Amino acid sequence: MSSTPLPPYFQINPDQALADLGDPTTTGGFAAIAQACAAGRDDLAGRGLSEDGGRKLRLFSTWEITRYLIPVAQAHFRRVLKQNPDLPQGRSETDGGAKWFSLDEVHRLRAHFGDTGSKAKGYIPYRPKGLPAKMVAVANFKGGVGKTSTAAHLAMSAALDGYKVLVIDLDSQASMTSIFGGKVEDEWQTVFPLLARHYASHLQADNQRRVDRDEAPVPLDDTLTEALTIKTKDLVQPTHWPNIDLIGAQLNLYWAEFQVPVWRMQGRGWKLWDALTDTLQADGVLDDYDLIFIDTPPALGYLTINGLAAADILLVPVGASFLEFDSTGRFFDMLHTTFNSIEEGENLAARALGREEMSFSWDAVRAVVTRYDGSQQAELAGLMQAYLGKTLSPHRQDFTALIGQAGEQVQGIYEADYRDFNRETYARGRETFDATYAAFKTLLIGTWRRDEANQ
Ligand SMILES: Nc1ncnc2c1ncn2[C@@H]1O[C@H](COP(=O)(O)OP(=O)(O)O)[C@@H](O)[C@H]1O
Ligand SMILES: [Mg+2]
Repeated sequence: MSSTPLPPYFQINPDQALADLGDPTTTGGFAAIAQACAAGRDDLAGRGLSEDGGRKLRLFSTWEITRYLIPVAQAHFRRVLKQNPDLPQGRSETDGGAKWFSLDEVHRLRAHFGDTGSKAKGYIPYRPKGLPAKMVAVANFKGGVGKTSTAAHLAMSAALDGYKVLVIDLDSQASMTSIFGGKVEDEWQTVFPLLARHYASHLQADNQRRVDRDEAPVPLDDTLTEALTIKTKDLVQPTHWPNIDLIGAQLNLYWAEFQVPVWRMQGRGWKLWDALTDTLQADGVLDDYDLIFIDTPPALGYLTINGLAAADILLVPVGASFLEFDSTGRFFDMLHTTFNSIEEGENLAARALGREEMSFSWDAVRAVVTRYDGSQQAELAGLMQAYLGKTLSPHRQDFTALIGQAGEQVQGIYEADYRDFNRETYARGRETFDATYAAFKTLLIGTWRRDEANQ
């Protein structure tokens, strides 16, 4: 007989299996597991936190600034700083060592180079005056495809580039909220009250009509009354990035998926898909930021529908594998069915009332290949490109170990200190996310330019 051991699933001893099993789990068992996880999570989070209890963004060196953020020759950079003692001068860890700057200081330096340097260099990122912020949703009903990583990295790239960014987490799993160190007690610090406020306003208007018809108004419950007092800025929290703000998520946000259909039953005419768009607009958020990134849960529920309806640009991350390509096809099919049925429903009423018909529209929709492995997936990615054409973003975001390696203190490539990595590895990892950003920024600028031309 050969000495090759049997596969591990043979010859399992039932008595040993029973001895290892432990007691049956009750509902209370889930609470105990959750508690253990929470304790471990706090421990982990605590290790990455600075003394004031918040996360801290690293500093940026002259090399990194002149290489990636304000592309000028290092000698010129140093000369300009010397000539302008009022500009941030940076600090060094050793005498005569490299100078390091906070991101706020980088922004001040960029403003200076933007004012005095060659306009052609484009140090200050393009943003047409008077036009609203662009909203970008990252969505796919499949989990683990890189939605949150893509959204977080794009938000950070855009912030490094000088844009003012708001990140909205619609996923009750709250990964994005963790990445930005958000603190969210309950659903009242998520977008939930904005949805509630939108419905409450609808109900108030309905009630006015009821009163006009001598009918009894439908009373607003405590939740709705409370929601009417809440503005977007009450929900926005600063992050450790000076120009990234956050509206966070928390497990309770999932409650919205049950509450929204109840409200919709009660108020048939309520345009639930407009709740986020309308409240953000009404609160002036689109003037306060350049870019708003919306991270969505892996489902096409009411929260995702709101995020998608609000978005100007929709990005759909997808891995270059058969299963992901296949399910992404079905995701687009569901998007079509969902938004088409909303349009049909609305337009039926609009036609009856002689009103103008509505239709949803997005400035740009792109699938983005994520976690790409060129040695294994080139053929599949090529095929996807052939079928999707322009809808597939031209840049494939490489799989990079840097993301997993970054650890609990730093999230993703832009927060990592390049000195912790081999320079080559760092440069390659960074390049792929820089290229993802470049492809996105091209879309962004194109859409703003179109709006400018149509003004
Ligand atoms: N380009 C990449 N290279 C390596 N790992 C990645 C990359 N993008 C995402 N990941 C990893 O894949 C997993 C799922 O990504 P995530 O962004 O959370 O997906 P989703 O939000 O769609 O569920 C995470 O563990 C993340 O670190
Ligand atoms: Mg996610």
